[in-house]
Amino acid sequence: MDGLEILDRAERLGRHSDSSEHYTRTFLTPAHRAAAAQLADWMREAGMAVRTDAVGNVIGRYEGASEGARTLVMGSHFDSVRNGGKYDGVLGILVPIACVHELNSRGERLEVAIEVVGFSDEEGARFSTSFLSSRALVGRFDSSVVGNQDADGVTLARAMRDAGLDPDEIRSAALDPATLAGFVELHIEQGPVLLDAGEALGVVTAIASGIRYLVRVKGEAGHAGTVPMARRRDALAAAAEMVLAVEKQCAAVDSAVGTVGILKVKDGTGNVIPGEVEFTVDIRAPDDARRHEAEDAVVKQLERVAKRRGVDMEVVRGPHDVAGVPCAPWLQERLAESISRCVGHEAPRLPSGAGHDAMMLANVTDVAMMFVRCGAGGVSHNPAETVTSEDAGLAAAALLDFLRNFEPRA
Ligand code: GLV
Ligand code: MN
Ligand code: MN
Repeated sequence: MDGLEILDRAERLGRHSDSSEHYTRTFLTPAHRAAAAQLADWMREAGMAVRTDAVGNVIGRYEGASEGARTLVMGSHFDSVRNGGKYDGVLGILVPIACVHELNSRGERLEVAIEVVGFSDEEGARFSTSFLSSRALVGRFDSSVVGNQDADGVTLARAMRDAGLDPDEIRSAALDPATLAGFVELHIEQGPVLLDAGEALGVVTAIASGIRYLVRVKGEAGHAGTVPMARRRDALAAAAEMVLAVEKQCAAVDSAVGTVGILKVKDGTGNVIPGEVEFTVDIRAPDDARRHEAEDAVVKQLERVAKRRGVDMEVVRGPHDVAGVPCAPWLQERLAESISRCVGHEAPRLPSGAGHDAMMLANVTDVAMMFVRCGAGGVSHNPAETVTSEDAGLAAAALLDFLRNFEPRA
């Protein structure tokens, strides 16, 4: 299959962006809705019946050889982080569409029906959510988030209604687990492991455990010119020390990672001592035990800093709080066989440090993931993110081989 065509589609989809300067596509903006319409067109063209569910997931269905066949679900997300890369998520929709197109053009039907899902919101950049659309698909939507506001004060519920979606109907998006034969997500690796190993494709063994906090630090605002240094309760200076504590505590736990991605100074002004600061903390590790170890160490250290500096601190957990997810061994095996038939040697296996929609689908069915080599040193969540057309073509060939040989488990 044509890897160039897949990359060309990623490029075209990437033009549907909230920003004219870079690629940013967030939940239910005009660009997001245009991308959804484009995906639906490509799904129809590939021979699928298309529906949009109650949270804006775009779902293409390709029936199996016999009626009543179970459904193998594939897919990934079409929202993005701010100023992100064009393949994160999107590749995992475009490659399955290309596979179905190939099956349909040859009149091939499989033992299972296929559904390709374009997940409408995984990154949660607009409304500070987490796995919004895959949670809905597995019947675990957290309805408290519909009051979340974007940077312009628009609530999630309002944005849904404006897009013709009814927040009260979200429960209807849930899939029936009894109808499922599994979930497979193809994704760029977003790291350098395959690149360094000289491998195009790999099988994911497990997806890392992760949590996100919001930390609020309250000190005392004051005049930058008059309050002596020893009498200040500077919320930003305290937060700065806390950011470094996140880095230090996470680095001390084997394979754990910690990141402060957002830091806001309330009413920040050049001649005012910061009185209130908010920041996020994202902590991940290959397993729950190490994630909890890092998390405990971080929170303890933040409390120490707050006490020593005489500031108040509030730690709000979530909404992102997801246990690590192992990929189903039988699906890993099938993916590994298909990859090795395509590349001519044994498929490498690797864990995923990033979170994926597959984590939510694991609540209702067996899941597996195929990783595709990420170029430019393995960088992602960055516009430099890149994939070659050869690798995209190989990924499509391996996924098609997997589909043709797929037998659902009894
Ligand atoms: C998803 O991109 C994540 O944060 O892992
Ligand atoms: Mn991402
Ligand atoms: Mn992703």
